[in-house]
Amino acid sequence: MASATFTNLNSLSSQWIGQPSSFSSRPGSSIRLAARRVSVPIRASYTDELIQTAKSIASPGRGILAIDESNATCGKRLASIGLDNTETNRQAYRQLLLTTPGLGEYISGAILFEETLYQSTIDGKKFVDCLREENIVPGIKVDKGLVPLPGSNNESWCQGLDGLASRSAEYYKQGARFAKWRTVVSIPSGPSALAVKEAAWGLARYASISQDNGLVPIVEPEILLDGDHPIERTLEVAEKVWAEVFFYLAENNVVFEGILLKPSMVTPGAEHKERASPETIAKYTLTMLKRRVPPAVPGIMFLSGGQSEVEATLNLNAMNQSPNPWHVSFSYARALQNSVLKTWQGQPENVEAAQKALLVRAKANSLAQLGRYSAEGENEEAKKGMFVKGYTY
Ligand code: 13P
Repeated sequence: MASATFTNLNSLSSQWIGQPSSFSSRPGSSIRLAARRVSVPIRASYTDELIQTAKSIASPGRGILAIDESNATCGKRLASIGLDNTETNRQAYRQLLLTTPGLGEYISGAILFEETLYQSTIDGKKFVDCLREENIVPGIKVDKGLVPLPGSNNESWCQGLDGLASRSAEYYKQGARFAKWRTVVSIPSGPSALAVKEAAWGLARYASISQDNGLVPIVEPEILLDGDHPIERTLEVAEKVWAEVFFYLAENNVVFEGILLKPSMVTPGAEHKERASPETIAKYTLTMLKRRVPPAVPGIMFLSGGQSEVEATLNLNAMNQSPNPWHVSFSYARALQNSVLKTWQGQPENVEAAQKALLVRAKANSLAQLGRYSAEGENEEAKKGMFVKGYTY
């Protein structure tokens, strides 16, 4: 029933999409607009499932655990605790995270790298099954990373559209139900109109292909923290970027009820002389989102972008002090993993303590999603910033 209503709505609105084809003026009458019927394809096959998946990820008190680091970036995480970047070490680390007992109370989705999607525990249980048992939806990073964008101001664009439909169909078969595509926008580099347009168009094409193959797309134009600009400048750029993203999402007939967003919070540049309070960050971020994001979108799942674990949690908490049109939550990588890595140190005897550290962070962010977090008792490690200039994922 829900789908029928939705499809009707969709087809109704689609009749009037596009520019009016002609103006007709008759003697004695005012100018009249002749609207053109445009036929727009409706994503019938997966629509209900996409909406259900997005809703279940955007469920109260829960958010996303992002562990989709490419092998190179995972290697940097492992190097920080003196481990080699081998498949065995990556598997051991991901096993620690994905088999944490009780994780599903706070985590609704986990973004995996391709290698992890096809991996199992050392006892042979598929990681996707470990997640399903905790009621956590498996997700997959589908972009192929950033490369220089010719003709721009030293900016980049995101690769991965070639073959994406067949890859997505395979990921679905393996158990993935949502996808992630991260592209970046740099404020100190302009950003140029070309880079913003390319980022928005790429995200929209990816979102459309994902939905066609049953994956809920996470739309992530990361506006990097790099720069010494004030918060007002971030607001201006974020508004521009999200306006273009939604323009192209609509042009690609993406079903807004079946997507999730992964924005950066609106903050001053990392090198700006003044820091902003969580209340200020919440005010600017929510202003931007309310101006740009339709309420049909079920969830806003922030990235942490190099903020400390505590900072990212405090900012999320500040955003949930009054009701929002969408579920406002987290999809953190660094801000969920830092304490875990430091506790684990690659030692089997530390696995249990490291899993507890993950639960502490996950619970803190769960409380922040509900607007009930307090930083009282947080340790020093969790307050350390993790910003890296020109960060790649
Ligand atoms: P961070 O929370 O480390 O910024 O993660 C970004 C990301 O895109 C993870 O999927």
